[in-house]
Amino acid sequence: MTKIFAHRGSAGTHPENTMIAFYEAERVGADGIELDVQLTKDGQIVVIHDETIDRTTDGTGWVKDFTYRELKQFNAVYKFVDQYDVCRIPLLEEVLAWIHPTSLLLNIELKNGLIAYEGLEQKVIDMIRHYGLEERTVLSSFNHNSMLFCHHLAPNIETGLLYMEPLYDPWKYVRVMKAKGLHPYHRTVTESFLHQARHHGIAIRPFTINKESLMKKMFAYEVDAIFTDYPRLAKEILKKT
Ligand code: G3P
Ligand code: CA
Repeated sequence: MTKIFAHRGSAGTHPENTMIAFYEAERVGADGIELDVQLTKDGQIVVIHDETIDRTTDGTGWVKDFTYRELKQFNAVYKFVDQYDVCRIPLLEEVLAWIHPTSLLLNIELKNGLIAYEGLEQKVIDMIRHYGLEERTVLSSFNHNSMLFCHHLAPNIETGLLYMEPLYDPWKYVRVMKAKGLHPYHRTVTESFLHQARHHGIAIRPFTINKESLMKKMFAYEVDAIFTDYPRLAKEILKKT
């Protein structure tokens, strides 16, 4: 059955990439959470989608220009000001310490497309190993070379390739890049693509599936997982499918 990954926690209903959003994902019975990571000035792995803090916090500037101590002063409540007073940008470590005793799956997206954060791959892998989460984690990125490097560093941790445009010869490409899964923009996913993926033993996890009609379509295709900002809705729809 298709797994439900709560995208940035439950970004549709809670402040994205915060502990509150991750707790909500568990509460509504998501199978896993998806989160994004970047590096601070002092080399800490923080959970935040954008390279800057402008959109999701009350501060402004690049994540890479702040130490973690400075970053955690900002309020990451984002657009949910009516529901919450304050929430902070979490460290990846905080999320892993919390997820460790649960049975949730984890997708860590390395946000290293625009900025080449030095050592990000090794730091993330060390953290996953520290919490023994190798079996429950999929690493992903739009930076496919970074995923190849992750495979080189930790062949037992699964990688998935994120992409927007259809890939040329995806089955050969995914093999060359040593990935086990493709994480495509949903518009590129067809029933025939799914059949081919089955044949090649590649997991397909499209993003970002927020509309009810799209959820139904992806569930009918029996994709391996979806990323959604609305995990509770997705669970309800999946139950009726
Ligand atoms: O993993 C799917 C999705 O998270 C990729 O896009 O921009 O939401 O990180 P984005
Ligand atoms: Ca993401």
